[in-house]
Amino acid sequence: MSRSDPDLPLPDAPAPPLPPEVFRRRRERLLEVLGDAVAIVPAAPELHRSRDTEVPYRPGSDIYYLTGYPEPQALAVIAGHQPERSFTLFVLPREPEREVWTGRRHGVDGARELTGASAVHTVAEIEHRLFDLVAGASAIHYPIGLDDELDRTVRDLVVRARRGRARSGRGPTALYDLDETLGPLRRVKDAEELERMRTAARIAAAGHRAAIACVAPGVGEWEVQAELEAVFRRHGASGPAFPSIVGSGPNATTLHYTANRRRIEEGDLVLIDAGAEWGMYCSDITRTVPASGRLNGPQRDVYDVVLAAHHEAIEAVQVGSSVADVHEAAVRTLTRGMLDLGLLRDQSVDEAVERGSYRRFYMHQTSHWLGLDVHDVGLYQEGGVTVALVPGMVLTVEPGLYLASDDDTIPEAYRGIGVRIEDTVAITQEGVEILTSEVPTEVSA
Ligand code: GLY
Ligand code: MN
Ligand code: MN
Repeated sequence: MSRSDPDLPLPDAPAPPLPPEVFRRRRERLLEVLGDAVAIVPAAPELHRSRDTEVPYRPGSDIYYLTGYPEPQALAVIAGHQPERSFTLFVLPREPEREVWTGRRHGVDGARELTGASAVHTVAEIEHRLFDLVAGASAIHYPIGLDDELDRTVRDLVVRARRGRARSGRGPTALYDLDETLGPLRRVKDAEELERMRTAARIAAAGHRAAIACVAPGVGEWEVQAELEAVFRRHGASGPAFPSIVGSGPNATTLHYTANRRRIEEGDLVLIDAGAEWGMYCSDITRTVPASGRLNGPQRDVYDVVLAAHHEAIEAVQVGSSVADVHEAAVRTLTRGMLDLGLLRDQSVDEAVERGSYRRFYMHQTSHWLGLDVHDVGLYQEGGVTVALVPGMVLTVEPGLYLASDDDTIPEAYRGIGVRIEDTVAITQEGVEILTSEVPTEVSA
């Protein structure tokens, strides 16, 4: 097991663009899976925040993964059935009057240069070119359900092909969910992705160290969030990879508490779950620390159970094991702890695991894939078989215990305690690498 290298300098700027070659290699891998089918890959939608204000635009993970093209409304068509296996990109055109407001666009020529696409057209041409691009493919792979209008357009392509099929003998005749196609590829990171994830993780670790240093009675949860996110941005992260969670006292028992509006009190535990996004890649760390610097007795009891589960779960991350094995290791240790602390009674560890009684206090999974998305794409089970861990996979390990403040079946001393400890772990050719090891998990008693 290796750990991240604290002596490496952190970046002081956003990630530079990856070379077109990296994206070409990924399209080649997709083409191997597509055979003579075609993939239609849209950009992420632009989201409205309020009135005439937009949510800052983030490229969709799939189109970014395959093309690196960052602008909204783009559409990539990757055609396995064409002899030259063409890559066509539709993009917003240059539009100087709009660009005064929203910044310079790549336009058709810029997009060709950036991506090396075999053909680039403006988005206005999608309607009249799309059928010819997919005609003759055996099937279309497309992210069904994200955009109603595009869903209709793609369905109409299949219907149109079906009408002519009796005489043309050609497809496409089937529609597949692109998530199922790209999931297995995106689930195994390439060298460039692993490098970005290492950096995102180390920036997140620096943010956590700064945040933990400012935790004290009287400090607002929002101020701890400000520390985290200032460090993220200073190192060129685009910002948090997901809304930062700073939950003090009873708020630590709400899994995704993001209001961050309570003032920390003496004797609180503070749960900080946050990650940076750098160069489009996410990181994800949770630490739980005592406001006063020391755990009291009941907090120590709960913390030690979660820390033991974290150790056991990390040990279970190995080539050939699975996310289910990692979860089982965490669940068994947490359940033993629940029995020891009197949270569960009158049953053995095996019975409590079998019946799922532990779910009252541990109601989430131990791991998720991490990558371009914080809960990254890719199945955990295929055809009823758990997916084996292989080099290139990146996952979290995040056991916790959540003891609600208003549950009077919980021994009083433990009510209102929430603890989670989360690291991001990569499987590499050399073994298991903890990308977020630069934030300690040990807390003084
Ligand atoms: N912060 C979300 C998660 O840990 O999955
Ligand atoms: Mn997580
Ligand atoms: Mn997290």
